[in-house]
Amino acid sequence: MRRRELPHETISRSENDRPPSATDRGVPRYGPASVKLEGILLQRDLDRPIGQRRFARLAFGRADTSTGSRSLRAETSVGPLQLRSRRTPEVRVPIFDLLKPRNSIRLMKAAVCTKYGPPNVLVLTELEKPNPKQDEVCIKIHATAVTSSDCMVRSFNLPYSMWIPARLVLGITRPRRPVLGMVVAGEVAGVGRGVASFSEGQQVFGLDRFAFGAYAEYKCMPSSGLLTSKPFNLSYEEAAAIPYGGMLALHFLKRGEIRSGQRVLVYGASGAVGTSAVQLVKHFGAEVTGVCSTTNLGLIRSLGVDAVIDYTKDDFTKMDGLYDLIFVAVGSRVRPPSRADCRRALVAGGRYVSVDQGKPVMSIEDLVLLKQLVEAGELKPVIDQCFPLEQIAEAHRYVDRGHKKGNVVITL
Ligand SMILES: NC(=O)c1ccc[n+]([C@@H]2O[C@H](COP(=O)([O-])OP(=O)(O)OC[C@H]3O[C@@H](n4cnc5c(N)ncnc54)[C@H](OP(=O)(O)O)[C@@H]3O)[C@@H](O)[C@H]2O)c1
Repeated sequence: MRRRELPHETISRSENDRPPSATDRGVPRYGPASVKLEGILLQRDLDRPIGQRRFARLAFGRADTSTGSRSLRAETSVGPLQLRSRRTPEVRVPIFDLLKPRNSIRLMKAAVCTKYGPPNVLVLTELEKPNPKQDEVCIKIHATAVTSSDCMVRSFNLPYSMWIPARLVLGITRPRRPVLGMVVAGEVAGVGRGVASFSEGQQVFGLDRFAFGAYAEYKCMPSSGLLTSKPFNLSYEEAAAIPYGGMLALHFLKRGEIRSGQRVLVYGASGAVGTSAVQLVKHFGAEVTGVCSTTNLGLIRSLGVDAVIDYTKDDFTKMDGLYDLIFVAVGSRVRPPSRADCRRALVAGGRYVSVDQGKPVMSIEDLVLLKQLVEAGELKPVIDQCFPLEQIAEAHRYVDRGHKKGNVVITL
């Protein structure tokens, strides 16, 4: 690695020609110790933005220790870099990046999760625009959604029993993939050389589950992933309200072996999963009862449910043998009725399925089915609010309350 000399470099010069040092000027001098810089460098720390990936490799080069200041300067491929630190007298820049032509770097807007915590850990920054690999599609994202899974990862609000495995998978102190967001709705901006199934300019929507990355202007995902053409009759915002709730609802209704003519109860009918579930039950030819709070009764009636129950007034678990399938679309954190609680309301041999049971299996066939149902008018997107990416923390705060109606969409 080659060290890059900075404008105020003093360390490598001889005693005679060196400029007055911090000590000469009575300013305490910070030692030459090198400090490893970790984490995401935020735009507010810099006089120019720098891509997160490049920062991960940021190394070599020296800071101006002569001023006694804790403000550092380094020349990088994206221009001079300036940052402050409590104890960083040295900044390193990889030779790789120094050799990169400055204009080859294209930046994009993105929201990064700087650590696990409340919504304000999400910070807007600029990152390097990704390029699709051989089998990947690069999507220019027009809309995404804030899902309950995004909020769960951001807050790391998980049962204690899952802490160690989840930290190993997601990242120890912060998400290993700091750009959250699973849902994509946008247009294809580029494809890898091995991709024949998508073409530039194609309007697409989909879900990239725990690969995340959708809180950004561009995202790459495998062409074989959960990605297909956007329903022609939906805007990007509306399309972003379909994949998450739709895929989860489809999976759990199939697990409950839903059949035509059955009587089905959906508990939590007003959320992202619930609003999709009640509509899908109708598609399968079954009769549906939706359970939600008083304010959402009108919403779920408008989705075509056959009956509604207000959980703040009536307790369906006291009813006798009414349902062939009970689908609890509410997370276990709010303590929804358990299998045992629902026994009385189920017919003999009736099934109970909870959205928190096991890992959902999702397929491209399911996504294509959702698209067809949308185009046939059988599945409608439900959007509570839209926020611009700049208000991502506000959007997370809203979803954290646990009472969104359908989906919260982010526009870019
Ligand atoms: N198994 C998995 O891998 C997996 C993956 C993703 C998500 N999930 C689970 O799916 C759940 C639902 O996701 P979502 O996006 O649909 O959530 P959501 O949109 O936030 O919906 C939450 C629903 O819960 C209802 N609710 C809130 N508090 C309630 C209470 N005390 N009693 C009864 N209902 C209550 C709300 O209705 P009101 O506003 O009318 O009260 C709302 O309909 C998540 O919480 C998560 O646990 C599981």
